[in-house]
This record gives sequence, structure tokens and C-alpha cells, in this order.
Amino acid sequence: MNLPLNSPVNEAVLSRIDQPIAYATGLPNECYTTHDAFVRDRDAVMTPGWVCVGFIDQLDTQNFALPVDFMGLPLVITRDSEDVFRVFHNVCSHRGMHLTNEPCKNNGLLRCPYHNWTYALDGTLRGTPHIGGYGTHTHPDFNTDDNGLKEVRSAVWLGAVFINLSGDAEPFETYTAPIRQQWTSLVTEEQLSRFWQGGEFSSLSLTVQSNWKLAVENFLESYHLPSVHPELNRISPLDQHYCVDYFDNGAGQGTLNYTRFDVKGTQLPTLDGWEPQRIATAEYPVLYPNTFFGIHADQLFILYLQPINQHETIEHVRIYYVDSTGDEFKEHRDAIAASWDSVFREDVFAVERMQTGRQSPAYAGGAFSPVMDEPTHHFHKWVARKLAASASRPE
Ligand code: FES
Ligand SMILES: [Fe+2]
Repeated sequence: MNLPLNSPVNEAVLSRIDQPIAYATGLPNECYTTHDAFVRDRDAVMTPGWVCVGFIDQLDTQNFALPVDFMGLPLVITRDSEDVFRVFHNVCSHRGMHLTNEPCKNNGLLRCPYHNWTYALDGTLRGTPHIGGYGTHTHPDFNTDDNGLKEVRSAVWLGAVFINLSGDAEPFETYTAPIRQQWTSLVTEEQLSRFWQGGEFSSLSLTVQSNWKLAVENFLESYHLPSVHPELNRISPLDQHYCVDYFDNGAGQGTLNYTRFDVKGTQLPTLDGWEPQRIATAEYPVLYPNTFFGIHADQLFILYLQPINQHETIEHVRIYYVDSTGDEFKEHRDAIAASWDSVFREDVFAVERMQTGRQSPAYAGGAFSPVMDEPTHHFHKWVARKLAASASRPE
């Protein structure tokens, strides 16, 4: 791991954040505004653990490669002819060309456009044309096995692709165990596996001029519901919301008043086994650092944040439904997708003005509502501890 830059959070800053909430301050401005802090987030907050970087439906056929920018690092997700998904550093082992920069269907090989070295989708180096001189494609001193693509540890869950750049995080199942435990009162693993990605209009993407952490913080609270989402607040009011119990690597909120969409007197099917008395319960946890879920009896959305730089982030959303019965429920799906699109867009001005607000020297981490902002404070402590630990670690 490369940590050449000063951390914006040291032990002194951490001690101000890691207080009982009524006395705590939040992360300082520089965590949101500088390129150094952005790189530090990547190397100290993201790299040691698991991070979401894509959806497998972006690779919609076999033998496909999807380049991904991960906070300035070029990566590529591949899907081979046996539907195995892998993630690699997207750089040629020869002279280091950024290997592929467009999503592409291929013949099972990735070809570097510089000197035509080719790699199989399992990363194996397959072709080194003229490496031993014109017309000689091998060299006795060159070991092909040592020069394949460098694989990144990865896992696929609920159609989302997660990576662990450091390679030494806990097992992926351990990482997701707390959120799965959080859900057990609503939904089982088997039920979750029955969600189906809702097709063309169930994919949303939104660019916000904001640091990724401000988007997380916005998802973590329902405090802004009456002011930012008055329509949503009318059908699912603030007083019906609650904070999701914290788990080690996440927090969030839930509602007791989720109202299923009604189209011409009909509603989407719900998951078999979802308890009828909990049909109006929905939960919105964030799995740190960058994945936001909305779990309902009849739909699940997954949103991951792709940080572009310290003040720009792309929100990628997929909506999943219980039943894949095509046109019968198309109007419901369209209505739900339009509704989430509208809700997420309502949040844009809030996170963008939080970002510009962090240019003010008069703001030094602010304050928290002891009741409404507990999940936000939880996230600040989680980030601050990682940054402070990286600050005290020898480079
Ligand atoms: S840099 Fe890729 S083949 Fe030379
Ligand atoms: Fe919101």
C-alpha cells in the first residue's frame, strides 16, 4: 500500500470526532476538498477492505471486458466464456500501457494495442509477438508465467462486483455478515437470491459535484426528509423512520411506513415469506465504504458510489424485483424507477452545497444532532479511525 501523503486525520482530530455524539465534531474540511485527501481515502480507507466497483450486468455477454476507473487506478472487470468474473489491474505487463479503455466484446483475449501482447481473460499471458526478434515469438530467458495480468481479489454479490485491493482483507462473507445479520428479521439469504434485475429502466446513473463521503452521509440519515423530499415525506413521514442498528461496517435508517406502488389497483409481488405484518417495513443501510441498499418486500435497490475526484462522484443504481414476469409489471417497474430517480435527484443540491460549504474556514467539522445524526457520526468515526491509523503507521 502506498501512503505517501499526510493524513488529514491524526490522533488529535480523531479524539474530537470519537466523542459522545453531543460533544463530537465531524471530519474536517480537508477530508473533502483536497486531492491529497482523495488519494488518502483510496489508500487508507478503501484499499484495505472491500469496495463495490461495478455491476455484472455491465458485462452482458461472455468474453467481455469492462474497464473501470477506481479513484485514478485503472482496473478491468472480465467475464470469460464460463461466466467467471475477474478483476485485474488494467495495465500491460510489458511497458505498462493502460490495456483497455473501452468496454469490449472480445474473442477471449485482451490485446495490448502497443506491441500486441495478448492475455486470456484469466490473466494468462498468451502472446508475445516478436519478443525474441522478428518472427520469433518466445525467448528462452522470458518467463511468460510471471508476466500475466495482476489480478485483484474480487467477489460478486447480488449482481454487484466488489474488490479488495490490498488482498488481505477479511473473507468477503465476513465483510457482508453484519449487514446480512441486520436483515435477518426481514429477509433470508435465499429470498435475496430471488431478486431479479429489472432491466432497461431499472438502471440509473447520476453525477454529483460532491465528495463521495457527503453522498454516504446523506444516505445515512432521514433527518432531511421533510425539507428535501416533501413528497416522500408525505407517504413515509420522518416520524415513521428509525436508525438501523449499527453494525461494524455500516449503518443507516429504516421506515415503518413504506407504501408499495399501486398501478391501476395492482401491486408488485412481494418476496415469498416476507412477514405480512412487516410489509410496510423497509431498510436503507450503507455498507461502508460505498454501497447503499434499499430493501423492501417488493424491490431491492443497490447504489454504489464511484469517486471520480475529491469533488465529483458518480452514483450507479440498479433496481431488482421479485418477479421477472416481464410486461405484466412493466408499469410498476417504470413508476418505481422514476420515483427513485426523482428522490436521488432531489438530494443532489444538498450534497453539492455541503461540498461548497466545506470551502468555508468557519466550518471545522460542525456538530451532530444527538438523535438524528447517529449513523452519520458512526460513519465519521469509522473513516477517522482508518485515517488516523494510517497517519500513525510507518510509511
Ligand atoms: S506495452 Fe503492451 S505490448 Fe508493449
Ligand atoms: Fe435524501
